[in-house]
Amino acid sequence: MTASESNTTIVIFGASGDLSQRKLLPGLFNLCRKGRLPGNFQIVGLASSPWDDQSFRDAAQTGVEQFTGYSYTQPEWDEFAPRLGYVTGNFGDPNAYTQLAQKLAAVEGGPANRLYYLATPPKFYAEIVDNLGAAGLSTQDEGWRRVIIEKPFGHDESSARNLNHSIHQVLDEAQIYRIDHYLGKETVQNILVSRFANTIYEPLWNRNYIDHVQITVSETVGVGSRAGYYDGVGVLRDMFQNHVLQLLSLVAMEPPASFDAEALREEKVKVLKAVRPIRSEEAAESTVRAQYQGYRTEKGVAPDSQTETYAAIRFAIDNWRWQGVPFYLRSGKRLASKASEITIQFKRPPHLMFPLAAEQSIEPNLLTLCLQPDEGIHLRSQAKVPDTVAAMHTVNLAFHYRDTFGTNPIPEAYERLLLDALHGDASLFTRGDRAELAWRLLDPILAAWQTDDAPLATYDPGSWGPAEADDLLGRDGRAWQHGCTHSEEPE
Ligand code: BG6
Repeated sequence: MTASESNTTIVIFGASGDLSQRKLLPGLFNLCRKGRLPGNFQIVGLASSPWDDQSFRDAAQTGVEQFTGYSYTQPEWDEFAPRLGYVTGNFGDPNAYTQLAQKLAAVEGGPANRLYYLATPPKFYAEIVDNLGAAGLSTQDEGWRRVIIEKPFGHDESSARNLNHSIHQVLDEAQIYRIDHYLGKETVQNILVSRFANTIYEPLWNRNYIDHVQITVSETVGVGSRAGYYDGVGVLRDMFQNHVLQLLSLVAMEPPASFDAEALREEKVKVLKAVRPIRSEEAAESTVRAQYQGYRTEKGVAPDSQTETYAAIRFAIDNWRWQGVPFYLRSGKRLASKASEITIQFKRPPHLMFPLAAEQSIEPNLLTLCLQPDEGIHLRSQAKVPDTVAAMHTVNLAFHYRDTFGTNPIPEAYERLLLDALHGDASLFTRGDRAELAWRLLDPILAAWQTDDAPLATYDPGSWGPAEADDLLGRDGRAWQHGCTHSEEPE
């Protein structure tokens, strides 16, 4: 007998951890409230903390109350909480999987589908998948079995390949959902809609009209309590390998023929293959790495840490569409504001018929996709100042989610991704070869940065990063833009 879609269990490994409490359980609760989970769903947590069902439910409730803005009713909670169960166990201990199997048999009461979520430190991914296989928990005789794997997926190309190889011993690629929460963000999904559901952009979206592209993912937070994970990892592995390069793929990819997971993922991989690798000897010219002042005195950080908390990179893409159009990427912690934005800077008009004062120039058009926090799209253009012959002023055409779609909070990325995995839609998840490819682009940079004479710039917390990152663009006659905070006020 095979499970019906309504009988589905979500198993969270690392259920007593931060990710589970802040994102996964609140996301599942919200999906439950919206009636989007399968009718007969169960959630089973497994972790080493000595909890029982009730402590797991309490942690979930605290998570919902502390980390979301949801106001909910008692009946909504009562519908959700009894479906939460917990097993104490170590990920490497085969007994834990026997106990898990027993718990699943008890709560499922018949054939069920299962979504396993690995919200654990990465060193356990291969071991957990192995143990699931050994315990017979990955066979699909009675229902589907899918596994969501958190980031980081490996720490370089060879470890990502080994991890792929290891999990493929137990699972088909179609059962594996490598998560990148940026792909679950509404505004990130909207990149494809903007590009391919409108006719006005695509004819301009190439080297003929675009001067360059900038991708900024800046954060105000520092390393906080995550030094144990972050120190020695750094921003290139933490943010570029996944989120920032995913954004680059979405901006630069060719239009897929259909809105199908494989078609989308294939185009994203193709564009990554066209990104010109930066050789180690070119790293000094095309990359900047930096650390914020005071990072080394943060709790848990090595006093002589060389870990970068900021990076900026100039990539080239070797294909017909993008030849000669640089892509400047930057991301860092403890910066001036939290902002994720993609700016497309267009070329200047080829000829200006308007009389301009000697020192006056015209600002180029900028199309900025404001991914967060103030979600929207801005288009910077020129307008004539009234009551002048031809004086011009830079204006901003803006669309904001909050104005158009109301004040309903945009759903958390994890909510969408959990639902997609439950529906078997892998469009917004990373394919195995893409994970390896992204590392292939970063490995030579990381290698160059590990040499003794590699420069490590510093920057003031609350600034926009090191001067060296301004120079990276300055040398090309360009500057970083802040297209989402553009002011419409005449100067
Ligand atoms: C995570 C990184 O993947 O993304 C964190 O590990 C980072 O270091 C976070 O803070 C940023 O995500 P968001 O959704 O807040 O932009």
